[in-house]
Amino acid sequence: MRPEITPEKPAPGCRKTDPLLVADGVSRVFGGLKAVDVEHLEIPRGVITALIGPNGAGKTTLFNLLTGFDNPDTGAWSFDGRDLAGVPAHKVSRLGEIRTFQLTKVLGMMTVLENMKLGARRQKGEKFWAALLPFLWKDQEREVEARALELLERFKLLEKKADYAASMSGGQRKLLEMARALMCDPQLIMLDEPMAGVNPALKQSLLDHILALKDDGVSVLFVEHDMHMVQAIADWVVVMAEGRIVAEGPPGTVMSDPAVVDAYLGSDKDRDLGDVIQTIRSSREFAPDESGVEVQRDDAVVAEQLAVTEMVEELAEHPEEKP
Ligand SMILES: Nc1ncnc2c1ncn2[C@@H]1O[C@H](COP(=O)(O)OP(=O)(O)O)[C@@H](O)[C@H]1O
Ligand SMILES: [Mg+2]
Repeated sequence: MRPEITPEKPAPGCRKTDPLLVADGVSRVFGGLKAVDVEHLEIPRGVITALIGPNGAGKTTLFNLLTGFDNPDTGAWSFDGRDLAGVPAHKVSRLGEIRTFQLTKVLGMMTVLENMKLGARRQKGEKFWAALLPFLWKDQEREVEARALELLERFKLLEKKADYAASMSGGQRKLLEMARALMCDPQLIMLDEPMAGVNPALKQSLLDHILALKDDGVSVLFVEHDMHMVQAIADWVVVMAEGRIVAEGPPGTVMSDPAVVDAYLGSDKDRDLGDVIQTIRSSREFAPDESGVEVQRDDAVVAEQLAVTEMVEELAEHPEEKP
């Protein structure tokens, strides 16, 4: 059965039944531009949430803030009931909230296996004095290695364990980054554009892994431009534009909402993963009942975006008639 996500009508900032991450008044200004301006946002537990919106909407900046890689100008947020504002990135990941990057951050001059081991948390051998006393960490080292090998096998990267990460394709690095994120048994995994630059065969495998994470009880929050993929695997969709949350709800309703599509998704809606998605859709366990669900938007923002979209289209059709 699908967990009940929200007791309220879907609307920007609506309450969730059992939120894992809760953000309040989080803002970040870059040189006068409000890159993130989130009044209230709750990320549900145990499901896959997609964060979508045009380039420059503030998705990556929001990820950076919520994971301690950047500091907000205002705001507070909590993870699993624990206040996280001001907690640095390495501590955030120890608490079970872990993220991957839009541009992968695997270390090219280390082997695949070494990269994996870096993902483990609290390693005793990392302390200077302890490093000199192998009996303190040998067992743990073996455990970490066993876990790394198990994950590499699951991600079909075992053959590459002794290769330098730099020798891998962009898609394989994305897989490695995801496998590494799992080294510390996260509760929430945040993936920033996991599919960007990944070939179709690897996309299939990434999608399968994301769905498998949910089956393992890991909550997922991912940023993605491919709307078919979002439609296929997300249980909940949050739409961001100009730093704000402008719509949220189940994928079927949010993404068929013409105002959301026109204003925020533009040509992204036509991108297709074709067969991959068909396979996934047909293997989905539940077909969420979205009849009677209505999504509320921030109408002022939608109207503004629509006006701009229209103007751009007009200009494209009649370039000679500049306003
Ligand atoms: N480090 C930075 N310095 C200045 N401006 C930034 C920085 N990071 C992001 N921005 C700006 O903030 C806005 C949001 O960017 P980003 O979060 O990367 O958007 P998205 O991930 O949704 O494409 C953009 O206008 C971007 O140019
Ligand atoms: Mg981004």
